[in-house]
Formats: sequence, C-alpha cells, structure tokens
Amino acid sequence: STTMPSGLAASQGRWPSMNRPHSRTRTARLYLGDLDSALNSAVLTSRNVSLIVNASGLPDLPYPAADGLQVLHVPVQDQPHAQLGQYFDPVTERIQQNQAGSTLVHCTAGRSRSAALVMAYLMRSEGLSLRQAHELVLERRPFIRPNAGFWRQLMEYERELSGRNTVRMVRTAAGVLPEYRADLRSGGPACCHVMV
Ligand SMILES: *[C@@H]1O[C@H](CO)[C@@H](O)[C@H](O)[C@H]1NC(C)=O
Ligand SMILES: *[C@@H]1O[C@H](CO)[C@@H](O)[C@H](O)[C@H]1NC(C)=O
Repeated sequence: STTMPSGLAASQGRWPSMNRPHSRTRTARLYLGDLDSALNSAVLTSRNVSLIVNASGLPDLPYPAADGLQVLHVPVQDQPHAQLGQYFDPVTERIQQNQAGSTLVHCTAGRSRSAALVMAYLMRSEGLSLRQAHELVLERRPFIRPNAGFWRQLMEYERELSGRNTVRMVRTAAGVLPEYRADLRSGGPACCHVMV
C-alpha cells in the first residue's frame, strides 16, 4: 500500500459493474487536497497529476510548471449561498475525460468545496449514494466538512440523479448538520473495491 502525503486522499478502484453497466470499469485516480498540495510540484509529479480542479477562489496561484498540466477553474467561495452545484456536472465530465494521468481537486483547506465536488463526482460517475460518497471521502479524509449550503446542493443533486435522498439536514445546537437517514441502509463503500 502507498503512503499518502498528508493532505491528500485518493480513490482508485474497480466498482461493481452490475450497478453501472455502461460506466467505465476502472475509475479515474482522484486526489482531494488543500492548497499546499496543489502548489507542491513533488506531490503533483509523484501522483502523476495531469488535471487540477482549482476551487480555491484565490487569484494568481503559481502552480508548478509541468508539461501538459491542465487546470479547470471553479470560481466559488466557501459560503453556504455560493452556487457550487452548477459545477457538479462539468467537473465530473472533465475528470472523466482526463485520461493523461490523475486529477487533484483542491480548494484552500481541502474540507468543504473540494470535498463536495468529489462527493458529487462519486455520485454521478460511480453511482454512489450521497451517504456512500460521504462515508468514502470521510474514511480517507476524516476532517472534511462541506458547508450546509453545499450539503443542500448535494442533496438536490442526489435527488436529480436517483430520485431519493440518503441524507437529511437537521438543526442541532452546533448548527444545521447532515444526518444519514435511518430508514435507508447504507450498503456502504464496502460494495466497492477501493485501493489507496
Ligand atoms: C484559480 O481560480 C481562480 C478563480 O477562482 C482564478 O482567479 C485563479 O487564476 C486560478 N488559478 C490558477 C493558477 O489557475
Ligand atoms: C501517468 O499516467 C499515464 C496515463 O495513465 C501513464 O501513461 C504514465 O506512465 C503515468 N506516469 C507516471 C510517472 O506514472
């Protein structure tokens, strides 16, 4: 098994083809990270990154020069009202098209925007439920925390994709937080063979 540089989480694997008969059987290699990982040429090279999804919202980031490195911009701030959902489809499609190497999705802390984009990718591209996508990303990166507005946009996306919601938002003393719906069994990422 590989040791991951801190600040990165990866998913690569073969997903059950019975769920998604028309999908590619091998998932793209995908990393989720913070700003430091995106600006670190050793990380980009060792992970064979050929596509960066830049959700930092910061101007003039000096990415290391690398042959053929492509950047997709997602100009959204980490605020509940920010419309991240409009990027779920284009980001997923661009990641699917990236055959030259792996993809790094980053924001600043690698907690909210980038995590939400990766969860949307896992739902749309890998057929996971929102709950499964959250469990998978959380397992690799325990401190992710998409803001409440992004959670609502992810729930809308899940409903669009599958006609149901596996997560609901509940009001707690600590704010509005997502909760897995008790009436729906996870089936969990255990259904998927994931390698790090
Ligand atoms: C990253 O995205 C922001 C828009 O949110 C843009 O201003 C900035 O130039 C981008 N950085 C790079 C290096 O592409
Ligand atoms: C990067 O990925 C491409 C496409 O999968 C592959 O051909 C190439 O050998 C990889 N390079 C490294 C250094 O792993």
